[in-house]
Amino acid sequence: MDRKRAREISERWMFPTEPSSYMGGLEDRPILASAHGRTVVDTEGKSYLDFQSGQMASAISHQHPRMVKAIRAALDTMVHASNTLLNVPRLRLHERLGKLLPEPLQKSLFLVSGSDSIEASIDLARKATGGTDVLGLHAGLHGSTSYLTRSLSFNWSRNKHSVVAPATSAILAPYCYRCPLGLEYPSCDIQCLNTSLQLADANFTNRPAAFIGEPIMSAGGVIVPPEGFYKRVQEACRERNMLLVMDEAQTGLGKTGRLFGFQHEAEVMPDIIALSKHLGGGLPISAVCTTEQIAQTAVENGYFATRSHATDPILCAAGEESLNIIVDEDLPARAAHIERRIKDAFTAMAKDCDLIGDVRGRGVLLGIELVTDREKKTPADAQAEQIFKQCFDNGLIFQLRGTRGLRNVIRLVPPMTTTDDEVDRAMTIIHDALKAV
Ligand SMILES: Cc1ncc(COP(=O)(O)O)c(C=O)c1O
Repeated sequence: MDRKRAREISERWMFPTEPSSYMGGLEDRPILASAHGRTVVDTEGKSYLDFQSGQMASAISHQHPRMVKAIRAALDTMVHASNTLLNVPRLRLHERLGKLLPEPLQKSLFLVSGSDSIEASIDLARKATGGTDVLGLHAGLHGSTSYLTRSLSFNWSRNKHSVVAPATSAILAPYCYRCPLGLEYPSCDIQCLNTSLQLADANFTNRPAAFIGEPIMSAGGVIVPPEGFYKRVQEACRERNMLLVMDEAQTGLGKTGRLFGFQHEAEVMPDIIALSKHLGGGLPISAVCTTEQIAQTAVENGYFATRSHATDPILCAAGEESLNIIVDEDLPARAAHIERRIKDAFTAMAKDCDLIGDVRGRGVLLGIELVTDREKKTPADAQAEQIFKQCFDNGLIFQLRGTRGLRNVIRLVPPMTTTDDEVDRAMTIIHDALKAV
């Protein structure tokens, strides 16, 4: 299908996109026709290295042969099944996931989208504690369902939504490169959290239920909390009878170089974790995982969570195979290797590219913050946009992200199977664009 025909269809039949959102203006972009490995191909035959892993859900790679085989087998056996009856792929996925999860988080339930798993996690925390209020980070993003998850996605403007969910509020994100309090870690003693908690205590409307956070704030500009942050959050939760919910949509299942993103900090054990994105190896399945005790208490209080497609055999079979691939191919180690290669490349580029202000992230979730002045850290949004366009034209796809209104962070999310040669090609494309700008 050529671009003219695609434009006719989108103008006549497609719901318009909101220009300031990250999906805005896609009518003017190439149209995808196929994908394999780390490459996507458009309808004009042009190939792109996909350093956004689809919508971060192809972290194993596009069309991984084992994924395709497992999905085909399920297709031939049973695609959909009622969630009022158990099915074999569902049982196998509960067991496979349970064996991977760290103790005591081995109880799981399945849903479809990442947003589903966040809504269900918050509801679970509320039912298990009897509390209501939920805190999130001001640079966090937890989904796009119109009420609860968007209300907790403080990195988007909440005023874009028609109604905001009550008992949801933000505390300061520990964005050390641009400390909201103008302090320096570690001498700051994580003051952003201490101050925020005083405010939160003053604002709670009812009993608090949960704190939700991403181990790395991805959409907020790939912000990695400083060492000790989540341990303090955990302590604060325990003091207030709140549960710690980790949104591992983007950090779970190997991408940060460990199986789960929260495992980078010693002594942190969330009460609930939500998994999605590449759990289905490209198909939509999400999971909420918690302890036996929390699950039991919530169920006694009437908790349940499901969707019509939550336990479809085809999705569960995909989930089981993606977990097998992650383990068999030791993808966390591969992600850690890619991190080192990309960070080394940017450290070298930073010597002659003053635009590079900060290089951060873990595994295959990396951010390069661009600034026009390293001292003042002036955000280089316009330059980032130019670099994005040049890279796109030269066959490399990634997204620009940033905290709240900013879009000055190059976010790279290559699949964990990306080869050294593919990393080097991507680095050359970015280096050329940085030099040109
Ligand atoms: C950290 C995080 N949580 C939740 C979600 C929501 O996932 P979904 O779009 O599958 O509903 C996203 C989406 O990008 C995300 O990045």
